[in-house]
Amino acid sequence: MEKKIYKIAVIGGDGIGPEVLAEGIKVLNRTAELDGSFAFDFTYFPWGCQYYLEHGEMMPEDGIEQLSRFDAIYLGAVGYPGVPDHISLRGLLIKIRKSFDEYVNLRPVKLLKGAPCPLAGVKREDIDMVFVRENSEGEYAGAGAWLYKDTPREVVIQDSVFSRFGTERIIRYAYDLARKEHKSLTSISKGNALNYSMVFWDQIFAEVGKEYPDVETHSYLVDAASMFMVKDPKRYGIIVCSNLFGDILTDLGAAISGGMGLAAGANLNPERKYPSMFEPIHGSAPDIAGQGKANPLASIWSASQMLDFFGHKDWGKKLIDIIEEMMVEKKVLTPDMGGTATTEEVGDEAVRLLGK
Ligand code: NAI
Ligand code: MG
Repeated sequence: MEKKIYKIAVIGGDGIGPEVLAEGIKVLNRTAELDGSFAFDFTYFPWGCQYYLEHGEMMPEDGIEQLSRFDAIYLGAVGYPGVPDHISLRGLLIKIRKSFDEYVNLRPVKLLKGAPCPLAGVKREDIDMVFVRENSEGEYAGAGAWLYKDTPREVVIQDSVFSRFGTERIIRYAYDLARKEHKSLTSISKGNALNYSMVFWDQIFAEVGKEYPDVETHSYLVDAASMFMVKDPKRYGIIVCSNLFGDILTDLGAAISGGMGLAAGANLNPERKYPSMFEPIHGSAPDIAGQGKANPLASIWSASQMLDFFGHKDWGKKLIDIIEEMMVEKKVLTPDMGGTATTEEVGDEAVRLLGK
């Protein structure tokens, strides 16, 4: 049988980005070795803030074209002191998400075995949700204006963009997922205050819902929804929300399910017309960069999402099992999880457990 080769573009980015990806790559290579039917071909791109300081842009002009030839993108983190965050984020991460129409940001919030949880009285099974965050428009559309800049009359306008096309497709994706996984679907919005965008969102959620009478639905305002994530997380299954709300709530989700060092996210182009992108959701953590302290488990979890996406769900699950095993054992963990191991030691341990 001929081996399937997955061509992966690796953008380590800034700070701890390259450090944590290196461990995810080790794990992916070992997985392929053990399986034998597929292999990875990694190509490294040195894009990010250092590149910006040298070239005046986060990636070359034909960067998107270069990436379009890959099966997937594996991204570390972008942003570093010295380059304004709106430039680094928009010039790389958001540019890739938009250019490749990665309109689904899929972020599991699941309390794995052994993961630290700051909530009292919560059982492990109580935290098991998946965020479907709209990833192509909404509050992050980049539409607006800055008028009379640097004068006393200064005015800024930041518009949200909610198209029928964009809103319908993300809501439909979430309904499909809820149906497939036999879970309830919760829409999170804010129609009482955002009288155009979120009223529209709620209307489309109800409209599309008519095609899914078998799916149990709930609709919450974002403020109440965040309160329930802390007080009663078990009420959530699949959650669908806008770009901004999803960004904020998934950091809260990370906090209740093991911390930033564990949370992963996939940026999907479900039609597979363009490459999808897999990343830990944390940033470049300048406070611990270069010290071997970064937790690579989030990037290993995103590697698991990549394997799922390629149809190797057995291996995707195996990686999650290994993450759980390491957290239960508590022998080889980074300082954020109360351990003393280095980033590299955690990666090595994951590789060792894979072969066991
Ligand atoms: P951050 O996620 O980098 O760090 C927040 C806190 O979590 C820090 O104390 C950090 O040490 C800790 N932390 C994060 N990841 C960790 C890991 N793997 N292991 C152990 N501890 C970890 O968020 P912050 O500080 O707000 O942003 C730093 C930079 O990263 C900024 O330039 C920001 O724009 C960028 N950023 C990039 C993202 C991306 O590329 N997707 C996402 C969020 C922020
Ligand atoms: Mg974020």
